[in-house]
Amino acid sequence: MTTLKNDLLLRTINGEKTERYPVWLMRQAGRILPEYRAVRASLSGFKELVETPELAAEVTIQPVDLLGVDAAIIFSDILVIPEAMGLPYQMVEKKGPWFEDTIKSKADLSKVSADIDVNDKLSYVFEAIKITKKELDGRVPLIGFCGAPWTIFCYMTEGEGSKTFSKARRILYQDPELAHQLLDDITTVTIKYLKQQIAAGADVIQIFDSWSGILGPKAYSEFGMKYVRRVCDAINEVPVTVFAKGAYYARKELGELSCQTIGLDWTMNIAESRALVGEDKTLQGNLDPCVLYADFGTIEKETKNMLNSFGNQRHIANLGHGVYPDTDPEKVKCFIDTVKGFTKN
Ligand code: CP3
Repeated sequence: MTTLKNDLLLRTINGEKTERYPVWLMRQAGRILPEYRAVRASLSGFKELVETPELAAEVTIQPVDLLGVDAAIIFSDILVIPEAMGLPYQMVEKKGPWFEDTIKSKADLSKVSADIDVNDKLSYVFEAIKITKKELDGRVPLIGFCGAPWTIFCYMTEGEGSKTFSKARRILYQDPELAHQLLDDITTVTIKYLKQQIAAGADVIQIFDSWSGILGPKAYSEFGMKYVRRVCDAINEVPVTVFAKGAYYARKELGELSCQTIGLDWTMNIAESRALVGEDKTLQGNLDPCVLYADFGTIEKETKNMLNSFGNQRHIANLGHGVYPDTDPEKVKCFIDTVKGFTKN
């Protein structure tokens, strides 16, 4: 195994005292970079890029070379899981994901299966991880990821993005048994998938619960947290980060999960989150991605304000959600360089 030349992220996750805060951005591999858009333009679409390991590896490494981040995140999508279970997706240009088939009733459960060989269905992801690890040659750690079961359930039932996900949420009240069966199946496949990402070389795993914020505390505890907990309990090989966007109401419960890092969105106060989560976890986040539309001076000032609020505790600098595609890469660099130039006292 190659030893890591830059292991700042892992040392921070482990709670060691570090010289500075590590920094990376959610959605760093993507449309902000002209170099990404060039690779993408030569292909039929997003899915071809996800399913071509050499190219997925290439765009995964671009932000390491071009932006100087302290971690890479494998280029893929959370929606490979519903597809592997039996519901294929399309990524519609300028619209987002779209599923022709969705789960609406118990009878629809026959369309999906948890009893699948992930090595067969998702070999392109594991191959991309292996190539990326080889090409990174230990420069920075590689983050693997998945969607949280609740967020995957949202897409499998709604079939597309939505402001309310009311088709997904109504099932929780009309047919909670169906909800639990589907969530259980998603969880089973997700655990198998993450174990193979780790076997292929992922150094850290991040679970994205992008839609936790549309549930209330009671529903999230029953239909969201329960399954995130099962994933966390099953993954002990590498450190796990849970990013439950909008789940400000669940921060105390998140702090009790068997994981090492909790991601924060920009609505969450750092000191308050630290008090709720406790001292024995690392926090990650949480600059408003819109700060990167400001002038360089403002970006520097806002980034330093955020870094000061970390109070020298275990923290990974990041945005509070994915970087928006029309952000100027020079502004992204300004954010990264401000973090890297900030010495802890
Ligand atoms: O750099 C990275 O963070 C790694 C790559 C990554 C992608 N998707 C690539 C992508 C990651 C970690 C994801 C996760 C993902 N995918 C989430 C969770 C994070 C979040 O944003 O809350 C979700 C909800 C999805 C589902 C998804 N994929 C949507 C809703 C969309 C359309 C919106 C958009 O940004 O266009 C995608 C498409 C997608 N996934 C793109 C990329 C780079 C853009 C597609 C393109 O290049 O044309």
